[in-house]
Amino acid sequence: MPTSPRGSRIAGIGHYCPERVLTNFDLERIVETSDEWIVTRTGIRERRIAADGEAASDLALAASRIALNDAGIEAEELDGIILATVTSDMQFPATACIVQDQLGAKNAVAYDLNAACSGFIYGLSNAHALICSGQMSRVLVIGVEVLSKFVDWQDRATCVLFGDGAGAVVVEACEPGKGILGTYMKSDGSLADLLQIPAGGSRMPLSKDSYERRDHFIKMKGDGVFKYAVRAMVDATMKVLERTGMALDDIDFFIPHQANMRILDAIAKRLGLPQEKVVINLERFGNTSSATIPIAFDEIVKAGKVNEGDIVLLVAFGGGLTWGSVLLRHTG
Ligand code: UT7
Repeated sequence: MPTSPRGSRIAGIGHYCPERVLTNFDLERIVETSDEWIVTRTGIRERRIAADGEAASDLALAASRIALNDAGIEAEELDGIILATVTSDMQFPATACIVQDQLGAKNAVAYDLNAACSGFIYGLSNAHALICSGQMSRVLVIGVEVLSKFVDWQDRATCVLFGDGAGAVVVEACEPGKGILGTYMKSDGSLADLLQIPAGGSRMPLSKDSYERRDHFIKMKGDGVFKYAVRAMVDATMKVLERTGMALDDIDFFIPHQANMRILDAIAKRLGLPQEKVVINLERFGNTSSATIPIAFDEIVKAGKVNEGDIVLLVAFGGGLTWGSVLLRHTG
């Protein structure tokens, strides 16, 4: 990767999840499922669910305030807000603009980014590039989802998997080699039909028919997604290590997108990563798509587990298909 006269680092981090907890036992009363099936097949035990009237921007705002406070900066100091989501407040305007207004970040350019579960990684890569090129100095990157409002609560194959939450980081300019060491992004649109919400866009506008077919909810070919998830996250891990000249042994914390425990086990096994380096909080939050990585990262930072200089690898995979990774040196 070409060297840049400046680099970027994560200066502050925060997350927010709605208070309401939905356990597997609660789900047993909604669809034909069992705690035993969900735990064995996915590793998930409970997830958070947004309240009625609680939207993506509400969760994003709460996480962003914590991240700004953690970074010790005011919202006016932000040059950019990149908000990754597939569950925006509305079709437009961008949820990032709503968050910009609520934060009072009047000097920021705000836009949404749709890369499904890889959204936070894409957003962080964008922020790094914008900062390294000198276009911006401080960027807020948010991963937020309110998937509970887009899952079909009659479809047991999907409704047990997802949850709601938000994570945010403040990325700021620093000396090169100090924070983010490298990024990698990849897509394969030929597999777009594995995971999608078919109705509600310009291809299939909402109609009585689409509503009756329940096409406005998430549709997933779970086995196909599973197969590519392992392959793609292994690929993204190796690519960012190659780009930065680092090795698997250099990684102190491996933070993968939290989709399914069996996917995480398969990746760790394929890479030969020891269990204690793999960060997992899936059992408490389920799959919150673009929010899983910043939530998991914030939890280990706030628990005091990550030391200055530790090498952290973030890797995601999602609908699109999209996948990617970020390798960074923690700057405390
Ligand atoms: O961020 C990326 C998002 N998506 C993912 O990461 C999903 C990746 N895929 C997966 O995690 C897995 O494919 C699932 C967890 C979705 C499914 O696991 P599986 O082991 O592939 O199960 P399956 O789809 O092969 O289904 C096995 C059986 C089926 O019954 P039959 O046909 O064998 O009688 C399903 O109908 O399990 C049934 N089943 C359930 N049973 C109880 C499916 N969902 C449930 C459920 N409770 N919730």
